[in-house]
Amino acid sequence: MPGLSRRDLLVSGVALSASSLLVRSAWGRVAALAGEGEGFAPALAAVAPRERLLFDFDWKFQFGHGSDPARDLGFGSKQEDYAKAGEFKFAKAGYDDAKWRKLNLPHDWAVELPFVWDESLESHGFKPLGRRYPETSVGWYRREFEVPEADAGKRLVLEFDGAFQDALVFVNGTQVGRSVTGYTPFSFDLTDFLFVGGKNCIAVRVDASYGEGWFYEGAGIYRHVWLTKTDSLHLGANESWVRTEVKDGKALLKFGTAVVNEGTKAESAAVSWLVRDSKGTIIPQGAGAGHSAPIQPDESAEFTGEMWLDNPKLWSLEEPNLYTVEVSVSVAGKTRDAERVSFGVRTVHFDADKGFFLNGKPVKIQGTCNHQDHAGVGSAIPDRLQWFRLAVLKEMGSNAVRTSHNMPTPEWVEACDRMGMLMMCETRQMASSVEGMAQLETMIKRYRNSPSIILWSIGNEENHLQNDQAELGEKIAASVVRRCHELDPTRVVSAAVNGSNAKGVSNALDIIGFNYNLKFPDEFHAKHPKLPVYGSETASTVSTRGEYATDKMRNVVSAYDVNHPEWANGTEEWVSFYGTREWLAGGFAWTGFDYRGEPTPYKWPSINSQFGIADTCGFPKDNHFYYKSWWGSEPVLHLFPHWNFAGKEGEQIPVWVYSNLDEVELLVNGKSLGKKKVARFGHAEWKAVYEPGAIEARGWKDGKLALTEKRETTGAPVAIRLTADRVEIDADGEDVAVIKVEALDTEGRAVPTAMNLIGFKVSGSGALIGVGNGDPNCHESDKGSKHSLFNGLAQVIVQASKQAGEIVIEAVKEGWDGPELTTAKLTIKTRSVTPRPAV
Ligand code: GAL
Repeated sequence: MPGLSRRDLLVSGVALSASSLLVRSAWGRVAALAGEGEGFAPALAAVAPRERLLFDFDWKFQFGHGSDPARDLGFGSKQEDYAKAGEFKFAKAGYDDAKWRKLNLPHDWAVELPFVWDESLESHGFKPLGRRYPETSVGWYRREFEVPEADAGKRLVLEFDGAFQDALVFVNGTQVGRSVTGYTPFSFDLTDFLFVGGKNCIAVRVDASYGEGWFYEGAGIYRHVWLTKTDSLHLGANESWVRTEVKDGKALLKFGTAVVNEGTKAESAAVSWLVRDSKGTIIPQGAGAGHSAPIQPDESAEFTGEMWLDNPKLWSLEEPNLYTVEVSVSVAGKTRDAERVSFGVRTVHFDADKGFFLNGKPVKIQGTCNHQDHAGVGSAIPDRLQWFRLAVLKEMGSNAVRTSHNMPTPEWVEACDRMGMLMMCETRQMASSVEGMAQLETMIKRYRNSPSIILWSIGNEENHLQNDQAELGEKIAASVVRRCHELDPTRVVSAAVNGSNAKGVSNALDIIGFNYNLKFPDEFHAKHPKLPVYGSETASTVSTRGEYATDKMRNVVSAYDVNHPEWANGTEEWVSFYGTREWLAGGFAWTGFDYRGEPTPYKWPSINSQFGIADTCGFPKDNHFYYKSWWGSEPVLHLFPHWNFAGKEGEQIPVWVYSNLDEVELLVNGKSLGKKKVARFGHAEWKAVYEPGAIEARGWKDGKLALTEKRETTGAPVAIRLTADRVEIDADGEDVAVIKVEALDTEGRAVPTAMNLIGFKVSGSGALIGVGNGDPNCHESDKGSKHSLFNGLAQVIVQASKQAGEIVIEAVKEGWDGPELTTAKLTIKTRSVTPRPAV
């Protein structure tokens, strides 16, 4: 795991108490697990002479309008203005955009909007998007750039990893293409439209009026944009694949790619594959090679090759070992185009009796489903934050994620490849239509080399196709599954089905996924003993971090594992169900993180779901430690609630312990309430009469005291503590530090009930890009310079500029509602690095 042994990545301005050390060590492991930036070279990279330039910086942005052309740059009024080639004037270089806002991508404008009470906005977490909010549903992006003379004769392709939604792309006044879905990458060849040796302009109209899901989806160009420059004889986009077979301690590597000739004469091309290990050392066995007849102009040819790899280092969860292959196309010995693709050597297999196997060893899938938004930044998640989020999940012993319900962003997949996580990769639209198949094909071609991906999912809960129109469902699913197999014969195909899986879509699947419905899998297995089964979606428990009594007036739900909607299951219920049946391959809990939109169990003023095992900032809820106890490999002893219940003196408070030790004892102010055995997949629980002081849990393993944990009644908050996940980050304009904000009492103990409003000042070589606190009911701005703590915690995300130096984060008095708090300051170093090549 790159970066693990580097240095202690934590910093703090205050001395630590024993209990805060505990909190910090877990936080530190998250930081360490996420690793350092340089370990995360992209899984798909350009190799000279190809260039792949990041096109994220220095865009201009302005809102358009969904219904009034006059407020939409005239778009939609005089059609010939924009429908004729070269005539859309504001999409040409030189247009005066001085008043437009300057910003960098990725960008999500939805997260910047205020919350608005309107039932129709529930899915989007009450952000004003949709037909009823035309003034905030359309955004225009502009970017001028030079194309140097040296690019004459090259092909220039603009690639978007994703934009939400319905993106119309113009180049130098001409519309070059449109992409409707918000989850699939799209690209346009700009070559014919560009002025080589001059100024050019790209303009993109993004229309987020129509959602695709029932959850927050953001708005804008929320993923990276790239400009790729190649020779006119080049490798096809996402055409390079690597398949591996492990035999007798060796691996057979099979390669394939396509070469496209966009030049004017036939070319006799050769393709070679050069494999390197994770350290970059060339594998001496040499590379495979392929040849074909001359490729005619505007035609393409497929090439395949293979080679043996001795003693392959397998990709596994513990050692996510990656190889890379440099795919080059040459003519008469001269390289014309090349790219680097990373891959892993591993075997995966689903067995109907014994579950899932990785490299021949049984592995229970301990997964979570996740959407793609985070506090402060919405769906525009910087790469580094993707790794941070994955580390939060890994820290609780999870080994898999499901990309519900859409094609993921490349960095999420890369993080899984690099950090050793399994992935169930899902497409948005289950359809054998042209659009549905195109989305599926792009997903599979883009990610089929990723070792983390163990199965494709063709959809989620298409209940109509599953039940009322089951025959239709089976027909559509069969076509989609067939296409999956053609594109990738190495992986099985599934779907997330809410029901008995007795008909419809299920009849076409390789393996069967159950969403909830624990009453069905046993019966299904008895009837279909040859079909592997797993839980495509489970849990949907609801809890609010740091709350220990459900309060419908405050829209909070207690963090004990006792609450879930009627279709869902408690954590212990589902984990023990899947954990005690060998034939079940495991399952994916809904969800790893709280997410915006689909507010459950409460509606407005709640703006979030409360399904997460962590909140929207990634702060763990108590459930996190239940999973860690039964999914992880370390001894765990987690005691809750906190012990700050002023006003509840004499009342009985439930005290729970999550632990994988044999026995646990609870002490209240030194008095034992007795020892309890912890059943496998269970927890220990007492009722304790509240009196200020401390509760302590002691955990025994094999008769020996193994761990203790305390919760003390703290005093009022008097100081702030700022703790960063890393204290040194890259000055590349992209890297971020994730800062935890806590309030401390006079003894330096974190106050778990603190709700203080805190002001933040960020100066130096970086900027604040988002704030949050995980409160599902908080309507404070994600982009503000002040934010409240929620049950003792808030998060600040700062991003480095390209100037090496220091970012200074100060918790300032401005905005505080308690004059007694003292200020805090944290410095993050930004080190000079070679930034990624950019336009
Ligand atoms: C499922 C659905 C998810 C989410 C979840 C909430 O049925 O697949 O997207 O809505 O319910 O419990």
